[in-house]
Amino acid sequence: MAPAESILEVRDLVKHFPLTQGIVFKRQIGAIKAVDGVSFDLRRGETLGVVGESGCGKSTLAKVMMALERPTSGSVKVNGRDITKAKGAELKHMRRNIQMVMQDPYTSLNPRMTVGDIVGEPFEIHSEVLPKGGRRKRVQELLDVVGLNPDHINRYPHQFSGGQRQRIGIARGLALQPEVIICDEPVSALDVSIQAQVMNLLDRLQKEFNLAYIFIAHDLSVVRHISDRVAVMYLGKIVELGGDSQIYDRPSHPYTQALLSAVPVPNPEGREARERIILQGDPPSPANPPSGCRFRTRCWKAQDICAKEEPLLQIRPGTDHLSACHFAEALDVVHVQS
Ligand SMILES: Nc1ncnc2c1ncn2[C@@H]1O[C@H](COP(=O)(O)OP(=O)(O)OP(=O)(O)O)[C@@H](O)[C@H]1O
Ligand code: SF4
Ligand SMILES: [Mg+2]
Repeated sequence: MAPAESILEVRDLVKHFPLTQGIVFKRQIGAIKAVDGVSFDLRRGETLGVVGESGCGKSTLAKVMMALERPTSGSVKVNGRDITKAKGAELKHMRRNIQMVMQDPYTSLNPRMTVGDIVGEPFEIHSEVLPKGGRRKRVQELLDVVGLNPDHINRYPHQFSGGQRQRIGIARGLALQPEVIICDEPVSALDVSIQAQVMNLLDRLQKEFNLAYIFIAHDLSVVRHISDRVAVMYLGKIVELGGDSQIYDRPSHPYTQALLSAVPVPNPEGREARERIILQGDPPSPANPPSGCRFRTRCWKAQDICAKEEPLLQIRPGTDHLSACHFAEALDVVHVQS
């Protein structure tokens, strides 16, 4: 059983997209293993950062957790109820509790709708939440909460800057008072100076409304300050999961170590030297992942066993730090900004 404070319990989640050939007689020739056996808990009010290179399955994981995609197998329990099995009125009700903020504030807002209509749309879909008469006032309150002028309720998205548009998306995400918000790269499309403002807003809202966040990013540095724990993904799997100092100061998976870039690597003479580990090449195709450990084709520590046996995501003795490597070993890292 998961700890009582978990609001989200993800277990053995798999999402394969079929690869088909032929036009009239379609036949399946394989599958893109976008998410391939992911398990974790999200605790009430915490932020779990999810980090990995493009194509490792972060957005697919988010969509399955939101029940926008059906999983191939596995479960996602929200307050103990499996959202992947829910249908009709129950699914609609559960969706109120788990909302999403998208990456691109320029394309994710309908340009023909006013800000009031965009932020108030969840009340149209879930009309039981708020009577029609109270909606305008509530939308103005939400605009105020995210630092926008409530008098701008009749403006259109193009009249706002990128950072302000992302605030509109956040206000919309808050409308139904969810307990979980999945932020899929919410600041990647914004200027660096604006990123900090949006991150600070998310941080403040979390404290104010006791929100739990899944915060998705490419880069470990983006999620560091907002995350309580971080999950590192590679080719559809979590390879390491831990708290701030476990991931950033003493990571134990070679992939995380390579992402952080400089760790002390023993040299042939036995003396310790600090070397930068360069992550070579691109990740292999998720349609045809390597046998054994998926990271082995790029791993600087790979041995024969890595091709034969898949390393399981296991707890490191005496800690709550999880790592999926036959040779997991916590190393001090020297952070290198790329
Ligand atoms: N609807 C789909 N049909 C087929 N393949 C898909 C579909 N959606 C995603 N994929 C594939 O699944 C894999 C994971 O994609 P996903 O978008 O989840 O990655 P990501 O980690 O979010 O990447 P990025 O950082 O670029 O946003 C990719 O190989 C992608 O091409
Ligand atoms: S299991 Fe082997 S290939 Fe995989 S990360 Fe560990 S050392 Fe590298
Ligand atoms: Mg994505």
